[in-house]
Amino acid sequence: MAKFISIQSAMDKGAGSVKVRGWCYRERGSNKLKFIVLRDSTNIIQCVLEKSKVDEKVWKAANDIHIETSLEISGKIKKDDRAPTGYEISVNSLEVVGKCDNYPIQKDQSIEFLADNRHLWLRSRKMTAIMKIRSTIFGAIHEYFRGKGFYEYQSPIFQPTAGESGSEVFAVPYFGDTMFLAQTWQLQAEPAIFALEKIYTIAPSFRAEKSNTSRHLTEYWHAEMEFAWANFDELQDHSEALTKHIVKSVLKNNESELELLERDTKTLKATVKKKFPRLTYTEVLKLLDKKAKMKVKWGKDLRTLEEDKLSAMYNTPVIVTRYPKTVKAFYMKEDPKDKKVVLGFDMIGPEGYGELIGASQREEDIEKIVANLKKEGEDPKNYEFYLDTRRYGSVPHAGFGMGIERMISWICGLDNIKDSIPFPRNMSRYRP
Ligand code: 4AD
Ligand code: MG
Repeated sequence: MAKFISIQSAMDKGAGSVKVRGWCYRERGSNKLKFIVLRDSTNIIQCVLEKSKVDEKVWKAANDIHIETSLEISGKIKKDDRAPTGYEISVNSLEVVGKCDNYPIQKDQSIEFLADNRHLWLRSRKMTAIMKIRSTIFGAIHEYFRGKGFYEYQSPIFQPTAGESGSEVFAVPYFGDTMFLAQTWQLQAEPAIFALEKIYTIAPSFRAEKSNTSRHLTEYWHAEMEFAWANFDELQDHSEALTKHIVKSVLKNNESELELLERDTKTLKATVKKKFPRLTYTEVLKLLDKKAKMKVKWGKDLRTLEEDKLSAMYNTPVIVTRYPKTVKAFYMKEDPKDKKVVLGFDMIGPEGYGELIGASQREEDIEKIVANLKKEGEDPKNYEFYLDTRRYGSVPHAGFGMGIERMISWICGLDNIKDSIPFPRNMSRYRP
C-alpha cells in the first residue's frame, strides 16, 4: 500500500498515483461529475470524480461530503491550469473519515461570529498562514539567541510583586495571600545573569490593560533577554539584529503565506537591508515639530498618534532612546550625562504598528532604585531580593522585551493584534 503524502508533496511530484488526506475545503458537482477541493496543512488541491469511472460505493460516499468533512483520497495527479493551485487529482477511490454536516462557518460572516467560533476559524487559510508565520518567528527567536550564546532561562509566572506597573497587574488569590501574574520575567531574570551572564526567554506575559486597542492583549508572548557586562549600544545592536533575523527568516520560509495574506513586503525587505535610525526622544520631538507640525511638551510620553507619525517617516523600525525618566520604569538607568533621561529605548515598528520592543540599561545604584520605587508608590521592602543583585558583585547589565504578537501583526500586516494569536484575550474577548 502506498503511503499518504501531503498535498504539497503530491503537487511537487506532479504526476502519477498519489494518496492524500485532509478536509473538504469546497465542493460542487452534478449527477455525473463532482469537484472536491481538499485542504491539508500544506495546501489545497482540486479533486475530481466522474460517476462513470468510480465504484458505486465511492460515488455514494462522495455525495456525503460537505465543507470540513475529513477524507482520504487516492487517484492520479496531473497539471491543470484551470485548477485553483495548478494541479488536479482524478479520484479512483475515496473514504470519509469524519462526517461534517452544516459546518457553522460559511462565507461572509461577521467578525463577532468568527471570534465566537475561533476554535473552528483556526482552520481558515488566513489563520493557518498566520500561525505558520508565528511558528517561524518563535523558531527564529530561539535561533538568534542560541546562536549568540544565550541560555534559555525561565522566571515564574506567579510573582510576589508587579514587574512593570502596579496599575496593570492581574492579582490572583494564592492560599490566603495575593500573587500577580507576570508582566515581565525581568525581576527574577536579573539575578540569573550572575550565573549565566547571557539569558533569554519566550514566555507569556499578562497585562490588565484597560485599553481595547488593536495593539493590546491581556495575555501575550514576550521574548525577553538580559545580559551581563552590557553597554547601551550593544543592547540596541541586539534588538536590531534580532528583528532583522526574524524578518529574514519569514521572508525565506513563508513566501506563500505572505502572498496569501496579500502582504506588501516592501518594508520587510527594507528592514533586512537598512540600518535602523536611532534617535533620541528629544530629537524625535524636534522632528515631529518640524516635519509634522506636532508639538509635544518635553517630558510627556509619546502617544500612539505621535509614534505613528514618526513611523510613517521611515520604512524600517526606529529606535528611540533616552526618554524622560518620569515616563519610564523604576529599573532604567539614569543617563550619567543627563539626569533627566534614562538609558532606555523603544523600538517603534514601521507602518503604525507601535512599540515592538521596550529596553534599558539597568540602574545599578540602590538608592536611585529605592527612590524610583517610592515615587511609584511601591514598598521597597518587597524588592529586597532585587536589591540584592546590586549589593553582591553588581555588574553593568541590560535587557529588553519584544512583544511577539506585535511583531507578528506587523510582519503579517494585520489590522488587529487579535489575529496574531490563536485564542486572543483582551478586555472584552476571552472565550473560547
Ligand atoms: O515595554 P514593556 O512593558 O517592557 C517590559 O516589560 C520590560 N520588563 C522588558 C525587558 O526589558 N525585559 O513590554 C515589552 C514589550 C513592548 O514593547 C510591547 O511590544 C509588548 O511587550 N507589550 C504588549 N504586547 C501586547 N499586548 C500588550 N498589552 C503589551 N504590553 C507590552
Ligand atoms: Mg514599553
